[in-house]
Amino acid sequence: MPAERKLFIKTYGCQMNVYDSERMAEALGGSGYVVTDDAEEADMILLNTCHIREKAAEKMYSELGRLRGLKDANPDLRIGVAGCVAQAEGQEILRRQPLVDLVVGPQSYHRLPQMEARVRGGERALDTDFPDEDKFDHLAARPRARRGPGAFLTVQEGCDKFCAFCVVPYTRGAEVSRPAARVLSEARDLVERGVREITLLGQNVNAYHGDGTGGEWSLARLIRELARIDGLDRIRYTTSHPNDMDDDLIAAHGEVAELMPYLHLPVQSGSDRVLKAMNRKHTADSYLRLIGRIRAARPDILISGDFIVGFPGETESDFADTLALVGAVEYGQCYSFKYSTRPGTPAAERPQVEEPVKDDRLRRLQALLRDQQHAVQRRMVGQEVGVLFDKPGREPGQMVGKSDHLHSVFVFVAGDGVARGDLRRVRITASAPNSLAGTLV
Ligand code: SAH
Ligand code: SF4
Ligand code: F3S
Repeated sequence: MPAERKLFIKTYGCQMNVYDSERMAEALGGSGYVVTDDAEEADMILLNTCHIREKAAEKMYSELGRLRGLKDANPDLRIGVAGCVAQAEGQEILRRQPLVDLVVGPQSYHRLPQMEARVRGGERALDTDFPDEDKFDHLAARPRARRGPGAFLTVQEGCDKFCAFCVVPYTRGAEVSRPAARVLSEARDLVERGVREITLLGQNVNAYHGDGTGGEWSLARLIRELARIDGLDRIRYTTSHPNDMDDDLIAAHGEVAELMPYLHLPVQSGSDRVLKAMNRKHTADSYLRLIGRIRAARPDILISGDFIVGFPGETESDFADTLALVGAVEYGQCYSFKYSTRPGTPAAERPQVEEPVKDDRLRRLQALLRDQQHAVQRRMVGQEVGVLFDKPGREPGQMVGKSDHLHSVFVFVAGDGVARGDLRRVRITASAPNSLAGTLV
């Protein structure tokens, strides 16, 4: 057995990075590492980074600056950068930051144990290939520890859509789906370890088309099979592209009880002119009709989305179209961002919208989205929903969990024997800005 070493991982960016960090920890478990949440006692620190907006990448460089003291205090400490900044700026990170020992891109995590051995020997290691082999196939050696009630499971990676603003096709590579059998066996393993809710992940998860028995499986087929696993009570998936919502997937929302009534379906803008310039390949109207069909299949579904304001060329009238689309959809939850120029993407070369204009539009959009979110939450009051309890609440005797619609719900459970991982019926009694309160039914 190798000597026990401590691994500290800091994760930025999307849920796929959260999943990848777990898998990296497992891969390095075979090299004798156990995870710590205290960077000061670590023998290896990995920053799992995000490149989606400019600020995300800056965060990594300032975090590296803060780690200098730790490295001075412990010369055996090794520091690695993983994730999408590693992929985009690998060589430059090594050049700019002498304290970085290891740079690994998102498709090369299965090579981490070999890279770790090299950096232990005093070398610096860089791997930002897009290898042919599936990184997940080689990440199987893992401790079968008990898990909390919810888990992520990446089923699809990469993107072939090339929206004009987005770095993902460059940092994560081409769209690849994992074989259905591997997804199913990983899901069964998670359920045996205590998981009751699985969120399937992919940058274009609804474009999933993995090898399965009898040919390629769609996401709908995969969900229907997952739903048959005993003990798996809840299934979610994220993130989806409007153009990949097929009829079967929409139907599954009405038919599969385990598929939760929540859908993250980013539209980015309500202006057809901007959508075209973004290379989104859908219109505001096609999106609204799609939402209509989804709601016909599952009337109580909560829709969430992403918006970008101040995309190059966006006028006040384009922005008014975005506000109108938001008004028509009624989002339960939404993320909105100011357009951030990403070097190497087509939109970076175009005339940019001025910063104060972006600030103003973001403020107005967020005010509208906030009102909608609150209205949707208030409508939940009086309704009965499922809540999967996850942790203690803010007050004694209180537990908090996620509702079917992904709201955080606080419930007083003292004396009712509710434990982490219990799924119970709850009547919603009140709505706070970012959560709900309820009582056990
Ligand atoms: N694959 C998903 C999400 C990709 S990234 C999808 O297609 O929707 C998550 C969100 O970040 C995007 O939906 C978009 O709203 C935002 N985003 C991506 N690139 C951006 C940029 N250059 N500036 C601002 N926001 C961006
Ligand atoms: Fe980025 Fe567009 Fe691909 Fe989503 S669909 S990851 S926004 S390029
Ligand atoms: Fe960020 Fe990469 Fe995810 S850029 S959003 S970590 S895919």
